[in-house]
This record gives sequence, structure tokens and C-alpha cells, in this order.
Amino acid sequence: MIYFLDTANLEQIKYCNEFYPISGVTTNPTIISKENTDFWKLVKGIRAVIGDDKLLMVQTVQTEASKIIEEAKLLKAELGYNFVVKIPMCEEGLKATMALKALGIRVLITTIFTPPQALIAANAGASYVAPYVNRIDNIIGDGCEVAAQIVDQFEHYNLDCKVLAASFKNAEQVHKCASVACHSVTVTADILKMLISHPMTDAAVNGFEKDWKSVYGEKTILDF
Ligand code: E4P
Repeated sequence: MIYFLDTANLEQIKYCNEFYPISGVTTNPTIISKENTDFWKLVKGIRAVIGDDKLLMVQTVQTEASKIIEEAKLLKAELGYNFVVKIPMCEEGLKATMALKALGIRVLITTIFTPPQALIAANAGASYVAPYVNRIDNIIGDGCEVAAQIVDQFEHYNLDCKVLAASFKNAEQVHKCASVACHSVTVTADILKMLISHPMTDAAVNGFEKDWKSVYGEKTILDF
């Protein structure tokens, strides 16, 4: 399973890109609005931080297929080869996805809440679907189970579409998605940190430091 960072905050992107093995950055209109700054400056800033080799995903804000296509073409022209346009699940979005597939522009269909939505998105030519794990949990569903069913269906029907599970609020949800072989997840910087943190790990690391210093003081391997 690979990890994307779900933010448009440049400081967090710089930090996580340096310390975590992220494969790219995902955004949506809410995430972009939080930064409250010039759109192009922001998304091109994200591209500059992550470089040309990582995936950048930006969502369209249009609601009509021909306009979605126009916006997707512009985003792709400005943001480079490793770009995926996010389109919300709706009829106009499916129509745009079929056209964009023919143009060679990769699409992620977002706001997925059910396996049938995902199956239709994949048949329309989407390269990714994004089930909203926590929002499904919030309505007494099981977000990870929905993601698992989508993974199974794509495998069963041999569909060339990947699951990018999204909308996480805790590390357990991410772990459960990994257990059901989700191809990818997009998470916040806080959740990335939760995923690597454990008090027993801290205790073990502190023990190594204490034992070393009790014999060698401040010397390091470089001093021998
Ligand atoms: C990601 O691409 C999604 O848009 C995002 O994870 C949604 O998260 P939220 O449910 O916290 O808004």
C-alpha cells in the first residue's frame, strides 16, 4: 500500500515529503480553500515541493462535463505529467471521465460511498476511486469494509482501477484498509505521525541511548 498526503499546506507538505515515503499529494476544494491564497501559486508551489516524479491530484470545481474537461486539460497542462484530476461521482463526472480517458488524462472519481459507484467509475475509465472511509463510518457504515468490497470487485472483474481510500480520522482505519489490500490511502500529516508512533518504540530507543552513553559517553561511531 502506498501513501499520499491529504493537504495543501506547503509547510506540512515540505515536512512530510522530507521525512515520510509519500507518493504524492491529494487536494480537494475544501483543502485548497483552507489555505485561502492564490490557486495557481498554491498548486504550483505543491508541485515545486514534491517534484515532477510524484503524483499531484487536484479536483475540478465545474459541474458540467464539457467544463470539467476544460478545467482538467488546463490543470494537466500546468501541473505536469504526474497529474490526476479528481472528479466527484455524478453523471456529468462520468461523462467527463470517459472523454478524459480517451485524451489520456488520468481521473480519480471521488466522494465514493458504495461499491456500485466504484464499479461504474472504473467502467467509465477512472484510474482511481476514493471511498470516504471516515464519512462512511460516521453514518454507521463500515468504511474499510466498503473499501474491501471495492478492492475485491476490481480484482474479480480484472479492472484497471486502483482504490485510494480517503477521509481518515485515525490510524486504525488506515491499518484496516491496509489489511484488505487497498492499493493506496491519502492521510493527513497527523495521521502519518500516528502511524509510526508507539510508546514501546520510544522506550526501546531511549534504552539504546542510555546504555551506549553509560559506556561511551558522548562519543559516537564516527569518533572511533
Ligand atoms: C481526499 O482526497 C478526500 O477529498 C478527503 O480525504 C476527504 O476528507 P474529509 O472527509 O476529512 O473531508
